[in-house]
Amino acid sequence: MLQLRRVVQTAVRKNVCRQFSASQSYLQEKKGLVLGVFEAEGEEGLHLTETAAHFNQSVSGKLSELLQISGPKLKKGKSRIFYGIHKDFPCVAVVGLGKTNAGVCGAENWDTSKESIRQGMAAGCQLLQELEMNSVEVDGCGDAQSAAEGAMLGLFHFDQLKSKKKTKVTAQLHGSSGAESWEKGVVYAEGQNLARLLMEAPANHITPTAFAGIIEEKLASHAQRVTINKRSQDWIKEQQMGAFLSVSKGSEEPPVFLELHYNGSPDSKQPPLLLVGKGITFDSGGISLKPSPSMDAMRADMGGAATVCASIVTAAALKLPVNIIGLAPLCENMPSGKATKPGDVVTAKNGKTIQVDNTDAEGRLVLADALCYGHKFNPRAIVNVATLTGAMDVALGSAATGVFTNSDWLWEQLYKASVVTGDRVWRMPLFQHYTKQVTDSQLADLNNIGKYSRSGGACTAAAFLREFVTAPHWAHLDIAGVMSNKDEIPYLRKGMSGRPTRTLVEFAARLAKMAEDERNKKTQKLKCMKRDD
Ligand code: BES
Ligand code: ZN
Ligand code: ZN
Repeated sequence: MLQLRRVVQTAVRKNVCRQFSASQSYLQEKKGLVLGVFEAEGEEGLHLTETAAHFNQSVSGKLSELLQISGPKLKKGKSRIFYGIHKDFPCVAVVGLGKTNAGVCGAENWDTSKESIRQGMAAGCQLLQELEMNSVEVDGCGDAQSAAEGAMLGLFHFDQLKSKKKTKVTAQLHGSSGAESWEKGVVYAEGQNLARLLMEAPANHITPTAFAGIIEEKLASHAQRVTINKRSQDWIKEQQMGAFLSVSKGSEEPPVFLELHYNGSPDSKQPPLLLVGKGITFDSGGISLKPSPSMDAMRADMGGAATVCASIVTAAALKLPVNIIGLAPLCENMPSGKATKPGDVVTAKNGKTIQVDNTDAEGRLVLADALCYGHKFNPRAIVNVATLTGAMDVALGSAATGVFTNSDWLWEQLYKASVVTGDRVWRMPLFQHYTKQVTDSQLADLNNIGKYSRSGGACTAAAFLREFVTAPHWAHLDIAGVMSNKDEIPYLRKGMSGRPTRTLVEFAARLAKMAEDERNKKTQKLKCMKRDD
């Protein structure tokens, strides 16, 4: 699949060359530039970023002059293009970034400055892409990580299966200030873009086997710190994962249980962070067949597995000093003569029996077995991620991922990470009220749907998962609402979103930092004790 991507991209570049006339080739050789301007506080004017001010000097004040005469004050998110003001950059896009030092907003639960930079740099890059610039240089805006995230996320598009392609644009930092931060932003965004690619690609391309193969390929260069197990159907049977198998049995595609170990901590015994992702590569609903309109979106029902695996690829690329284990039960949910029927009873790995009253509530079944299995690693924390319920979308829409957790500590860490990334989370309840609605089953220990049908659907699903968790720090992230983007997140184009990959990575980075601080404290203490002796 990625092979195909490379071939296709090379072909596009060649094609573009052939199509351009002599005058257009001038544009091809030149770079575009994206610069930011803040709104000056308390004044009418604009406040150029450090990079933009430097550029302004290099063109003898032409930029600020043009900004003044070309129209009203550049508002946040608005942009303007100037042509021919610099010999190296035939097109310069200037983008409004809003107020200087806006910082964290208590009402929005995100860092407004970072979001504005992401939004602004994405908009500028997209404009230059429309002008068919092959390369753009981007203002670091004093926060090069956010600028890189905006640029790389904004430029991502999935057109590898189309004959007519958008121009492929390479983005780099303008100047050298913040180079390290820029690189970090590129890696974070590439992680999310990998999840977007996996989610957007059609289900006949991303089968369970293909998914596992792509992740294996992505992790190949980190072989020293990573081990990969692609467990087969026989292994899944040996493990007595009856709930997972009950979902996969309606499909011709064999299931895969993907197990990734990233050993990044210098302490090999450090308890790992366990990430578990729902990996339904296509969810037709099974015998409880979904209606056809929008069924195609269910190719992204492996969004949990995609974001979890992409986070591990990113953690490896960043060489985060933390141990992470990733589990992805991958299969299709299809109707057939072999498929599970409503009313069937299946047995999960922990011996609990489940009455499957609705075969479309399959995510909780595959996760149940993966959660049981994951406990054997004695994890520091368990985070599972899943496009689990339409009810989650009804509750929060695409504003935030719903987090159901039994741990205030874990909630705080996830929340803090999300404020930085702007890919927000919102805490949801795990009341016994909901547990009662899934433990009241006519034939078995549990029912895979809540007693009162759709009421509180996201909460009853979470309560069901909790029946397979004994660990004290567990969080279930329902990402059904944030699975795709129409136009709500301005720096993501329309399509599958890859959310909340960056929040997972930021969370892992924070855990790594905490463990590192802990280790340093211990060494310091030992040194002191030795000195005292
Ligand atoms: N994959 C779906 C949930 C979903 C819906 C994700 C929309 C993204 C967008 C899940 O497997 C499902 O179908 N859930 C059912 C559960 C119901 C039968 C209790 C739902 O939400 O309708
Ligand atoms: Zn379903
Ligand atoms: Zn599903």
